[in-house]
Amino acid sequence: MKLKIICIVGTRPNFIKIAPIMQEMARYKNIAPILVHTGQHYDYEMSKVFFQELSIPKPDYELGVGPGSQIRQNARTMESLELVVQKERPDLIIVVGDVNSTLAGALVAARLRIPLAHVEAGLRSFNLEMQEEVNRLLTDHVSEYLFTTEPSATKNLLKEGIPRKKIFFVGNVMIDSLLKNRNKFLKIKKYKKFNLQKRNYIVLTLHRQENVDNKQILGEILDSLVLIQEKIKIIWPVHPRTKKQLKKFKFSNRINDMKNLMPIAPLGYLEMISLMSDARLVLTDSGGIQEETTFLGVPCLTVREETERPITVELGTNKIAGLEKTQIVKESINILQGHSKKGKIPRYWDGNAAKRILKILNRHEPRKK
Ligand code: UD1
Repeated sequence: MKLKIICIVGTRPNFIKIAPIMQEMARYKNIAPILVHTGQHYDYEMSKVFFQELSIPKPDYELGVGPGSQIRQNARTMESLELVVQKERPDLIIVVGDVNSTLAGALVAARLRIPLAHVEAGLRSFNLEMQEEVNRLLTDHVSEYLFTTEPSATKNLLKEGIPRKKIFFVGNVMIDSLLKNRNKFLKIKKYKKFNLQKRNYIVLTLHRQENVDNKQILGEILDSLVLIQEKIKIIWPVHPRTKKQLKKFKFSNRINDMKNLMPIAPLGYLEMISLMSDARLVLTDSGGIQEETTFLGVPCLTVREETERPITVELGTNKIAGLEKTQIVKESINILQGHSKKGKIPRYWDGNAAKRILKILNRHEPRKK
């Protein structure tokens, strides 16, 4: 009997994480994967380009939930997912990361009593203001298989009372994707397309709700950019949420006034990794980018008060810059002057995380049907 596994994805970082898992599953003749795309991200540049570049199979189900408040988005996802799960009756459900689609998938699995596997379990910012933290906590506590990327995540889960036998330290599937695509992105040299010089520009990304939906915080970050861009060019692929908020807060003029700030449309996976790998510094509030820069050995400053990925600070190239203008500017200039951490690659960030995950899941007993 085949092991039927539903994989649920919805957003850009989910696609990057599921790609190596789908590829690995294809090597197992006894596993029947079913891919569900919730539609949380739906634009070509936020979704389809990732399927193309990462050779992710076409989803078996597209729920098309689209935009809306987070509660409505979750509710709609759960309603449609219930029908899919009832129809398919899988042996297992896999969710990845910490986005709303992850939680929706986890709750449906729990309600319908389908064993759940959470890839990237145990990360904690200890800040419940973050939607993602709520998603992580709830997802982990209804999971049967908790796959962690770094030792701190395993520790967090044990402290929360999750039995050790459910926790597996497997490494980082995001790095699997990066390594699988290394030859491709190394060829691109995307900086040339924007007339930039290697190691002489900053890549900026901002999308975190707590940052960009708050006028004062976003304003403070823009204030810091005014000073940093006097020293070096900053290229900024602008996330759709941030684009909306910049318009809403009437910040467009402030951006136009910064001559060395280059806002551009979101980039595909290979282009983004290429641009980051040749940058002098990456300024970001993303979680995944803290990990990718650590792997690439590129200095990263995280524009947040904390990180749920402490290994990128302890071992990697990441530093927490906070949200105050003076601190962001000071830390950036420090790095521009050559004072950056060397950094090491964390254990098991070696391209084999998906292999480890599938070895474990393959031992799962299919349900008697
Ligand atoms: C989501 C995740 C975040 C992740 C990020 C990656 C949650 C709580 N947040 O944030 O953890 O790091 O994705 O990008 O799940 N939009 C478009 N086109 C799209 C997608 C979104 O215009 O293809 C718009 C939406 O209509 C919405 C805004 O962007 O107004 C935000 O989208 P949403 O999915 O709510 O969350 P993200 O900010 O993308």
